Amino acid sequence: MILVTGGAGYIGSHTVRTLQAGNEQVVVLDSLEFGHRSALLGAELIVGNIRDRALVTELCRSHKVTQVVHFAAYKAVGESMEQPDRYWLNNVAGTVDLVEGVLAAGVKQFVFSSSCSVNGTPAELPLTEKAPIAPESVYAETKAMVERILGWYGVTHGLRSVSLRYFNAAGASTDGVIGEDWGRAQNLVPLVMKATLGKRPPLEVFGTDYPTPDGTCIRDYIHVDDLAEAHCRALAYLTEGGATIALNVGTGVGTSVLEIIKATERISGRTVPYTVAPRRAGDPVASYADPTMSHKTLGWAATRTVDDIIGSAWQWHSTHPDGFPD
Ligand code: WQD
Repeated sequence: MILVTGGAGYIGSHTVRTLQAGNEQVVVLDSLEFGHRSALLGAELIVGNIRDRALVTELCRSHKVTQVVHFAAYKAVGESMEQPDRYWLNNVAGTVDLVEGVLAAGVKQFVFSSSCSVNGTPAELPLTEKAPIAPESVYAETKAMVERILGWYGVTHGLRSVSLRYFNAAGASTDGVIGEDWGRAQNLVPLVMKATLGKRPPLEVFGTDYPTPDGTCIRDYIHVDDLAEAHCRALAYLTEGGATIALNVGTGVGTSVLEIIKATERISGRTVPYTVAPRRAGDPVASYADPTMSHKTLGWAATRTVDDIIGSAWQWHSTHPDGFPD
């Protein structure tokens, strides 16, 4: 049985679905602060908080949990700089409570939702796991700290963990049944969809004067279903006795903002309304993964393209203009 914290969220719900498709038993712990029950398609949900150690231990024992996938965290970079205490308490202290809770039930296999932002602005590209840890936001620092805390729980308690460092997760389930609820989404792809559907003002392109082929920033956009599959492979790796490790989970392909806009126009058949705005502070000019270690360690590679990402995002957002019903 696999415990998925934050499983009612974006990447969590796609991972729950992929695990169940692989005949894995799943139980979700989610506070529903941001998650959606309807994104779970009936998977077992316990509404609660990762900080409730007794609840965590009890549910691990009653469900005979053997592994954990931990998504539950706050992830808004800008908010983390304005309200750091929420991020230290929820992302870092919350994970300590969760780990203590699962260890009390004898659970010692843990997959963690980390982020390429632990490296800050890439010193060289493509980004490998050897790059320096240099977070540039409280959010990114919480991810780096949790990776180190999990390493220490390996030393003190024999916990084995895989920290998956996501690049830019985007897209929706290929069959369009679930996707990213855009209530709070501030990431590029949902904002492009929202602007194209006329659900928000025109997109602001944060800078067109970067030293890139078309002047806009480059990122490694990875399909959420590819990400979900990486989590399944990480659990299998731990089942097979794999040692604690942190891995870059990206495609290795860089795509610019304008290329995302052009793909959306090509696939939707509509014009993406946008204006050119000043650069956003803190944006690296480019970031994309060297996914070699993930390929070697997990036997995993992303298979979906940017067109798959944009096509699935458009299918989801155009048929669910107000996100999930709940
Ligand atoms: C992508 C590109 C913007 C919005 C963030 C987090 C990172 C990770 C992934 C969790 C950039 C441009 C965006 C807009 C724009 N999250 N953009 N106009 O900043 O690469 O990474 O999400 O792990 O931790 O920092 O993602 O989607 O915000 O931006 O021009 O209205 O789109 O400048 O180049 P980012 P993003």
